[in-house]
Order: sequence, then C-alpha cells, then structure tokens
Amino acid sequence: MTQWRWLGITAEATRVWVVTDLSVRSAKPTTVRTDAVVIGVVSAPPTGRSKGGGKAMAPAGPAAAVAKAFGRGFIPMLASLGFEGKAGQTATLPSGHVLRSPVVVVVGLGEEGAVDDEALRRAAAAGMKAISNAVSVAIALPAADAAGVRAVGEGVLLGLYTFDRYRSEQRTDPPGEVVVLTENARHRDVKQAVSDAAVVSRAVNLARDWVNTPPRDLTPELFAQAVSEHRTKAGGAAGKVKVTVLDEAALAKQGCGGILGVGQGSDNPPRLVRLEYSPRKPAAHLALVGKGITFDSGGLSLKTGTGMMTMKCDMGGAAAVLAATYAIAELGVPVKVTTFASMAENMPGGGATRPGDVLTMRSGATVEVLNTDAEGRLVLADALDMATEAEPDLIVDVATLTGACVVALGTRVSGVLSNDEGLLERVPAIADRAGEAMWALPIPDEMKGKVTSSSIADLRQHNPEPYGGTLYAAAFLREFVKEQRWVHLDIAGPAFNDKDAYGYTPKGGTGAAVRTLVRLAQEAADGALAR
Ligand code: BES
Ligand code: MN
Ligand code: ZN
Repeated sequence: MTQWRWLGITAEATRVWVVTDLSVRSAKPTTVRTDAVVIGVVSAPPTGRSKGGGKAMAPAGPAAAVAKAFGRGFIPMLASLGFEGKAGQTATLPSGHVLRSPVVVVVGLGEEGAVDDEALRRAAAAGMKAISNAVSVAIALPAADAAGVRAVGEGVLLGLYTFDRYRSEQRTDPPGEVVVLTENARHRDVKQAVSDAAVVSRAVNLARDWVNTPPRDLTPELFAQAVSEHRTKAGGAAGKVKVTVLDEAALAKQGCGGILGVGQGSDNPPRLVRLEYSPRKPAAHLALVGKGITFDSGGLSLKTGTGMMTMKCDMGGAAAVLAATYAIAELGVPVKVTTFASMAENMPGGGATRPGDVLTMRSGATVEVLNTDAEGRLVLADALDMATEAEPDLIVDVATLTGACVVALGTRVSGVLSNDEGLLERVPAIADRAGEAMWALPIPDEMKGKVTSSSIADLRQHNPEPYGGTLYAAAFLREFVKEQRWVHLDIAGPAFNDKDAYGYTPKGGTGAAVRTLVRLAQEAADGALAR
C-alpha cells in the first residue's frame, strides 16, 4: 500500500528525497496495517491520581480501542514506563499480536480540557519524531472535526521536516505514507482538510528550505531563479501563477532606488520577483510584499560576528509571501494575489551606500540613509509602492525587520502593525486560527514627525533614538502605502529558530507567516476583509 514518490534535487543527481504522502481513512487503529500507529493519551489534572498510585490518564478518542485491545494493563504499563500523558511525551511499544501494526507510539496530549487544534498539531509532530524506519504510519488522535484533522495533518508534515541537503549522509528517513484515521474520513470537509493541510505544510516547508539554504547558494539571482522554477516543479495549479523577475536594469528603469541602494554594496545584484495569481471571479484582491535580504551583513553599518550568524534568514518574509502565494493558487482560493518580493544582499563593498547618502525611491520620495543596517525598510518601500499601484483591497508585508521586535515580543511572537484599527484586531485572530502567534503593536502619532525629520531629504530612514525601533520602521513603511489598507508583519523573532526544535518547529528556518497568509486569503474569500 506504500506509494513512494521521488523528487530529485539538483545538488547531486544521485540523491533522492522522500515526499511523504498524506491521506485520510476511516480504518480503526486496531485493524490498520501500517508499520506504526500513533495514538494519544490525555493526562489527568495535577491532583488526579489513580488507585494504583500512578498518575491517572486516559486514552483519547480512537485510542480507546487500542487500550481495550491491550487490556486492563495498558495504562499501568504506560505509567511504569514513566509516561504521564504530558504534552510532547511519547512512549513506543511493541504491539505484539494485539494490533495489526507491529509498533504503537503513544503521545501525550496534556490535560483533556486543553486539547485544542494547536495541541493536536504538536502531538502529531511528536508522534512522527518518535518513529524511525517506518515506511507507512497511521495516526489516530482525537480530532473531532475537519479543523482538528487539518491540524493533525499539518503537525505530521511540519514535524517531519528536515534539511539534510548539505549533509554527506541523510540523518532521517521519513515515512512514504502517513494515514490520518478518523471516523469522518468520508466527509467532504474532512477530505478537503487533509489536502489543505498537505498544501499548506508543503508551502511552510518550502519557505523553510529557502531560509535554510546558505546565502552563497541563494543570492538574489538564485533565489529568483528558484522561485520561477518552483512554478514548474510543483506542477498542477502552481502553474496558474505568473512569474516576473525584474533584474538590475529593470529595477533601474522602474526607479527602484531603495532596492538598488541596498544591493549596490554586493557583487550579487538585486532582483524583484512579482507573482500574480488571478482566479476567474475573485472575491478580493490581496497584495503581498516580502523582505528578501539574502544576507544581511549590516552593510557599512556592519553587524558583529555573532549578529551575522543567522542573517541568511533575512529573506524569510519574501520566502513566506512567495510560498503562500503558490499555496493559495494550489488551493484554488478565489482571491486575486499579487506578490512582490524585493531581493538584495546587504554587503559593505566599495560601491555600498553610505550613512549620509540620499536615495530617491520609486515613489519619488527622497530618503536620507543614516544606518545601512536598517536596509529592510528601503527594499520594502519600493515594493510597497508597486503594490499600491495594483490597487488591492489590502497590502500585507512580511519582514524580518527589527531586532527591537524580538526584544518586545520574544522569538515566538510576530508583531502586527497597521494603518487600520480593524485589521489590527482581525489579523492576530486569523493568525491564531492558523496556529501562529502574532500581537498588535501601535504606530504612535509622534512617529510621523520623526520619520519626516530629515534635515536634507523628505524622509529619515533611521531613528537614532534606541527605543521603539519596530514602531518607527512601520511608520517609515506607512509613508509608501499612502491611503491603502495595509498590515505589516514583523517576523524577526519567529522566522528563524537558533535554539532546539520544539513542537513542530524545527531548528533553523520555520516558515513563519505562511499559514497566516494562506488563512487570511481563505477568510478574505469569505468576506473577512470587508470594512
Ligand atoms: N535583519 C535585521 C533585523 C533582525 C534582527 C532580524 C534579528 C532577525 C533577527 C534588520 O535589517 C536590522 O539589522 N535591523 C536593525 C535596525 C536598526 C539599525 C535600526 C536592528 O534591529 O538592529
Ligand atoms: Mn539589517
Ligand atoms: Zn535585515
């Protein structure tokens, strides 16, 4: 029953990569014949104790049948293994002849009342990580509805992600097939949930791959090329996306002084990639803008050595908007999407822009550059200007923009800034429904005066005061969206995980904002963007 699908990767023609196939079936975990079965167990509240003195816990949903097949000793056996049903915990058991599958992986879901979609996503990932060497896996967690099934599917594919392209030997061997088990497998919305989960998770993993790729192999030119190639590689509905790449000459013709100004200190010239997905009867038009700094050395305002270590991640915003656009097209969401990704390498070469230089932006505004490490707002400004010309219902830009946002919100929460009060409330809620953490931040009135306080140009790129850097950057960007409705997502914290993997989030590129953008388009199709 296993279907192997192979995808060749360019580095070495001999290397092959498994793409895990995700499907849904109504089979029972006790009768399904896979190499391993994953089930969930909930823990008791902190005070709850079973008669035997061990912590009380209970099989969750479809796991009940497995517990029953093992007999009364099942829960005590788990307890003897030190398993308590805590979120993230796993126990791997041989199933003897009790089940048709030889191995059962038990994952903790935490307390029963707290099992939401995010808990399912994390548990699914924990289950996958506990398995090695299985060709086929079935997963039976207590997903009550289509949203729960979608969360399980996402947890599976996001949790299985690895980036082994640069290792001599692959460290992991993911299963070729994962089957989500649910009684409702035949429901249309459940089937849809599984295919949505696959499309969205693959988009997140694509963004992760781009972020993880070393900057010498992902220069602006190579990034643009990879984005164009994805259109044909992905096949299917991704082919409906129109790709346009502007090279240096085209950028000069367009007057993109911000993008060119940032790129001019590098031997690798800048690019702008424009994607357009234009379905037949769009319910709304969304413009997406992404920061694609393929490496941020800081330019002449050079970063420290440690400050640069993770700066290949500075194209995470571009990766997110590009991958999300393909996913929206693949899902056939009836929303028009026009996407602009500014790609440049911020380097301190002899031709680099200097603090004190004035750039003339695409909009015609002049900008006094005071810190070449505040480059993101310069490349975004030109792309935002292009986006306004497309006259969408909403512009969303995504950028690893400020270290200040990481100071304010930590590494797992993105900042949301906007020129529209309603969106400031709606976007974090949409993110939450997608399983991402985002929090609204203000653009205080005083920022307007600060961004327009250059002594020689229209705008001042950088605020020398050390506070409120995220808010100032947003106020600067706002100058380029004019009257358009606009949301800015600062993903500087969540885009890259330089600590250990957790839940379904790997080390390295995380694909932050992809799920929120796809969800935003889906909700826009249902009228969520109406004023
Ligand atoms: N790419 C950085 C922001 C960043 C910091 C992203 C940490 C991810 C993790 C951005 O270009 C930058 O250098 N910002 C400066 C702005 C400052 C000079 C006003 C910063 O945050 O220090
Ligand atoms: Mn910078
Ligand atoms: Zn940067």
